[in-house]
Amino acid sequence: MGRAFVYVILGGGVAAGYAALEFTKKGVANGELCIISEEPVAPYERPALSKGFLLPEAPARLPAFHTCVGANEERLTPKWYKEHGIELILGTRVKSADVRRKTLLTAAGETISYKFLIIATGARALKLEEFGVSGSDAENVCYLRDLADATRLVDVMQNSTGDNAVVIGGGYIGMEVAASLVINKINVSMVFPEPHCMGRLFTPKIASYYEDFYKSKGVNFVKGTVLSSFVFNPDGKVTGVNLKDGSNLPADLVVVGIGIRPNTSLFEGQLTLEKGGIKVNSRLQTSNTSVYAVGDVASFPVKIFGESRRLEHVDAARKSARHAVAAIMEPDTTPDFDYLPFFYSRVFSFSWQFYGDNVGETVYFGDFSGPSFGAYWVHKGHLIGSFLEGGSKEEYEAIAKVTRLKPAVDDLSELERQGLGFVVAL
Ligand code: FDA
Ligand code: NAD
Repeated sequence: MGRAFVYVILGGGVAAGYAALEFTKKGVANGELCIISEEPVAPYERPALSKGFLLPEAPARLPAFHTCVGANEERLTPKWYKEHGIELILGTRVKSADVRRKTLLTAAGETISYKFLIIATGARALKLEEFGVSGSDAENVCYLRDLADATRLVDVMQNSTGDNAVVIGGGYIGMEVAASLVINKINVSMVFPEPHCMGRLFTPKIASYYEDFYKSKGVNFVKGTVLSSFVFNPDGKVTGVNLKDGSNLPADLVVVGIGIRPNTSLFEGQLTLEKGGIKVNSRLQTSNTSVYAVGDVASFPVKIFGESRRLEHVDAARKSARHAVAAIMEPDTTPDFDYLPFFYSRVFSFSWQFYGDNVGETVYFGDFSGPSFGAYWVHKGHLIGSFLEGGSKEEYEAIAKVTRLKPAVDDLSELERQGLGFVVAL
């Protein structure tokens, strides 16, 4: 049993949706393209799952957040794929790949062949078991990566008999889910090993701004420690957590966000890997010329930093996907992928954006008592990173534009004095 396509997108997440849109813009013919996804639904904007999807009132539900609604493009519903002659092979896991033969084998036993493959398999959530703690399968322990996880989290939240949640991890998932739980009137304790939240991006000063607000909403931060075990009742439900520092917390609901691993396993031994992902060149092409990789799974050259990065953010997924399609369909006219890293988050009524890189010296500006403040990162005499909370559309555009230019900065105190004026003036 088998089917053949010219173009196959493996994975049906954010990158897949944006790649599909780009294929139609470049003129793919009926029946040439398919998307194979383990998920039972058409590609959607994953960021909605930790935000609008968890709201107690008027929560976001499909079809409202199918891609590519997040970038003010068309919303690609299942009907859209049908109308454009794109086959959606949903609820289907690919269990092996043979890049030499250009075939994929599904768990149902079907062989699907391709001329060009785009790997968009994203990532999976790390499990506590990988850190030596068991109990992830308890009915009130939740992870958050896909729609099924989010649906389960809402269900556990709504059926919880008590009001105490423990959030494990102080990164993106931890911060966004904690805010959503608070909005649902649930008491939240956050447990993470670092001295402050969002350790990969925030400085202590930026972190303390958000932590102070969370504390004012009743969130209890338990830092510098990790979970050592769960406490279960006789039905196997978690009732509490024991921490390595010897303390414990009651828990009616536990949400775990302790990082991800890219889904590379199908291609290990067949394609070159780098930084935990699949190595691609500036055309998003892997070590096999018929195979491209995009989104969370791809390690690609970030031209402005002169090195490869694997980014775990939606903007990179959208843009790398579009670029790969352009490189496949218009190889002679598509330039190198020249991407400026962009991350953002929205929690409560906060909204921040970050561009570039967060290494070097930090120069703060604005009013840290709110509502708008920010920071620049200056490395080897150049501004290479910018963070802004509470900016206007024009201000965000300005920090993005200037960060891409990497302007020289001789005098940090002058930059501090100018603050946001530095980028707005350029
Ligand atoms: P994505 O994970 O979106 O898709 C991968 C797809 O491949 C899935 O459908 C999966 O089932 C499928 N798949 C994997 N292996 C397969 C196999 N063997 N066979 C078939 N299918 C397979 N970023 C940001 O910048 N701002 C934000 O606010 C947020 N918010 C956010 C919230 C939550 C809850 C999460 C989990 C993540 C975010 N992110 C984010 C990160 C962002 O969503 C992420 O970077 C993109 O979804 C990556 O897109 P990809 O298409 O690469 O992977
Ligand atoms: P993360 O890498 O942002 O944060 C992981 C957190 O878990 C860190 O605080 C880390 O110290 C902590 N941690 C690690 N091991 C731990 C342990 N044993 N016990 C307790 N804490 C531990 O990852 P995440 O928050 O799980 O997010 C998952 C993915 O989703 C990431 O790729 C992230 O970029 C993406 N995401 C992005 C956004 C956004 O960009 N706004 C929002 C949600 C999710």
